[in-house]
Amino acid sequence: MPKLASYNGKVDSIENIKVSPMSRAFLFSDSVYEVISFYKNEFIDFERHLDRLKHSLNETKISCSIEDCKTEIEKLLIESKSKDGYIYFQVSRGVDSKRSHFFEDSDCERFGFVEEFSFFNQLPLRVVLVDDIRWQRCDIKSTSLLGNVLQMNDAKSMGCNEILMHKNGVLTEGGASNIFFVKDKTIFTPELSSNILPGITRYQVIEIIKDKKLDFQEGSYGINDLNEASSIWFTSTTKGIVGVEEIVNLETKINPECELLEICKDAFVKKYFS
Ligand code: PDD
Repeated sequence: MPKLASYNGKVDSIENIKVSPMSRAFLFSDSVYEVISFYKNEFIDFERHLDRLKHSLNETKISCSIEDCKTEIEKLLIESKSKDGYIYFQVSRGVDSKRSHFFEDSDCERFGFVEEFSFFNQLPLRVVLVDDIRWQRCDIKSTSLLGNVLQMNDAKSMGCNEILMHKNGVLTEGGASNIFFVKDKTIFTPELSSNILPGITRYQVIEIIKDKKLDFQEGSYGINDLNEASSIWFTSTTKGIVGVEEIVNLETKINPECELLEICKDAFVKKYFS
């Protein structure tokens, strides 16, 4: 069955949606996006996703009503027959009359689609540690993901399904996820900065860690910390919380069975998926 989609508020089958090649999303990747999960027909943390979309729009100076985005995302969920899945929603600066790096005033362009998805089939990840070759505003959820895409496809050819990035030895995040690790029974995660996306699942996991009163620190961490870690986790809207079984190019002591990971996973499933 073709996916259900919407373009500037009009819901249709994705096959019927036609987009101009003069769209700045197509020419410049001049667009931002969200991936919002829903379970049993209810969005998970919808307001937080909208807040982050607002941040991305503000930082890129794309003028677009967040209320329009909200209405269109809700409409997609209502019209979709899917119970569990996610909505991809992107906003571009609009369609240009000519290709120019300098943008003019234009109407923003909104596009979204519904993807059915099952959240419970996550296997432990095999990852490779790579240089973070991306730009310096990774806090913006931009569709300009070439750095992630190139590194992730190199990783795939090495039999890996994620990458773990560092900038000059400082850990940043995964290719499409945030990272946590455990060392001496404390859970650590890189602090928010312009080098990482403020992941919604990251917030959710931190809330659980704090509720459970587990030892936790946010800060700046390096590759050496991974050498000493007993467990490494990745978090994202589509992965939930998932452990790493191997970093193919790093000696580690990681054990896929981690009590703290299980505590957080159980609480996460209870809170958001039951
Ligand atoms: N990606 N970091 C990056 C670079 C990401 O692309 C993502 C999510 C995350 C986790 O964010 P969240 O918990 O809000 O999903 C962190 C989405 C799922 C994607 O691009 O498909």
